[in-house]
Amino acid sequence: MTITDTNFPTETIELLAGMESIAVLTGAGISAESGVATFRDKDGLWSRFNPAELASMDGFLANPQLVWDWYQYRRGIIDSVQPNPGHRALAEMEELFPRFTLSTQNVDRLHQSAGSRKVLELHGNIIDNFCVDCRKSFEFPTGDVEKIPRCECGGLIRPSVVWFGEMLPEEVLRASDMAARQAQVYFSIGTSAEVFPAAQLPLIAQSHGAVLVEINPHETQLSSVADFSLRMPAGEALPVLVERIKHVRASAG
Ligand code: OAD
Repeated sequence: MTITDTNFPTETIELLAGMESIAVLTGAGISAESGVATFRDKDGLWSRFNPAELASMDGFLANPQLVWDWYQYRRGIIDSVQPNPGHRALAEMEELFPRFTLSTQNVDRLHQSAGSRKVLELHGNIIDNFCVDCRKSFEFPTGDVEKIPRCECGGLIRPSVVWFGEMLPEEVLRASDMAARQAQVYFSIGTSAEVFPAAQLPLIAQSHGAVLVEINPHETQLSSVADFSLRMPAGEALPVLVERIKHVRASAG
């Protein structure tokens, strides 16, 4: 069912309010209303930049300074933005359900800034860095490090994001997969659902019995299989959902 405004059917809210196990996958779209560019929208990052050059180990080794500069540029943007009502509503949802798992493909840490306590970062994060040779971790103040830094061991230092062709952090993927299998309702929010293995999670959830709810102003390849498609921005849909769930619960005593 496609829903295009926030007058969500009461039966749907009542159903949701009675659930115990919720899992969520978010993508770049949840941060769009904070002013962070998505990847595959018309004006998204991959329409202006080349992922093979900027988001792969081969690209990094070919031109480490270019890649470092790009991540410093993105860090500068992320440092200057705030979480939006969509992030905040998800942080509130974590308190409303006995089992709630938030997996994100985003590297911007805006879920944590909004108050989400447990976030499974499938694609790493843009804040931390590590040495490509000895794997030692480094954190630098944003903008302060113009020349690509090197570790004491001589290795180049790169951001802790997962690049194309790289494995996702094993524990994070396993926990996300488990949550998908156990969820009664699975939300896919602000993602084009094109990048695997993350894009598989909503399908795993649905095949294990979860009701699949997509929140995205545009159609994706998940839309045709989603049980509910909320065709609207996450920052509009999620706060209303949370308020209505709280209201239904309060009315039920
Ligand atoms: P995409 O850019 O592929 O998709 C963003 C989705 O967000 C699109 O489907 C938009 O329609 C939707 N969207 C835009 N504004 C929205 C809003 N206000 N509310 C809800 N949805 C909105 O981004 P991802 O699916 O996150 O990986 O991309 C997945 C991965 O591809 C990223 O993690 C990144 C990228 O390459 C790596 O860098 C490894």
